[in-house]
Amino acid sequence: MLPVKEEYTNMPVTGIMSEIAGVASLLWQKGWAERNGGNLSVNLTACVGEWVPGSPLLLSEFVLGRSFALLAGDVLYLTGTGTRMRDVAQRPFETGCFIRVGIDGRHCEAWAVKGVNPSSELPSHFAVQQFLKSEGKGYTAVLHTHPTELIALTHNRLFLESSYLTRTLWSMIPEARIFIQRGVGVIPYTMPGSSILAELTIKALAAHDVVLWEKHGALSVGKDIEDCFDNIDTLNKSAMIYMSAHMAGFQPEGLSDAQLNELGETYDH
Ligand code: 13P
Ligand code: ZN
Repeated sequence: MLPVKEEYTNMPVTGIMSEIAGVASLLWQKGWAERNGGNLSVNLTACVGEWVPGSPLLLSEFVLGRSFALLAGDVLYLTGTGTRMRDVAQRPFETGCFIRVGIDGRHCEAWAVKGVNPSSELPSHFAVQQFLKSEGKGYTAVLHTHPTELIALTHNRLFLESSYLTRTLWSMIPEARIFIQRGVGVIPYTMPGSSILAELTIKALAAHDVVLWEKHGALSVGKDIEDCFDNIDTLNKSAMIYMSAHMAGFQPEGLSDAQLNELGETYDH
């Protein structure tokens, strides 16, 4: 567990915040979090109940551009816009916002240290969080990050086709086929932080475990934030194997259809 400052240790979310800090540290170490790159959210409602964050977090209010009716009353942690993952790793309470969505799904109360505002990718985080709640599988976490090798693949038109990209990544190492069972969705380049990007993302998540945003990054969902990280880490490892083989001057053979089918029959649920 990473150290959490004394003023925060009586908060009911200390364990989850520690996990967030751990993942933020990994994102920085992986080189996926240049400057303020990436953001993450966790729905904390199940563990906070009627909890209202106190000092030194300050209360402010804002109104969302659209209603997220299913999130009414929920409390979500979302990293702050412009914050560095390497700072989230050290001070998760001071680099993000605790947002309680009002009963109309639009008016929000936010607790954060002075000057910290929600990530510019709030439209995607809230749309995906609402989608996850509607699915009822107990998924609470959403991670958007900038994994270098996966992004590089999206600069080749061949890999903008989801089934081709998925088949290629699956065939590089068994873990990719075992753990990313519904494959990877790809969304054509869309303005970061836009509502259109949010809409396209939830459509893609209906059929896939992870979504790539062309020439931008990846978004993953999971039971917790470590789950989200593991999905992207596994896929980026596949992309690295693919590229390492090409850099060594050969086309990787990849697992065969029969081998992939055998993995599917053994592990798919
Ligand atoms: P924020 O700093 O607003 O979270 O944006 C980072 C990012 O990765 C945008 O896609
Ligand atoms: Zn981004």
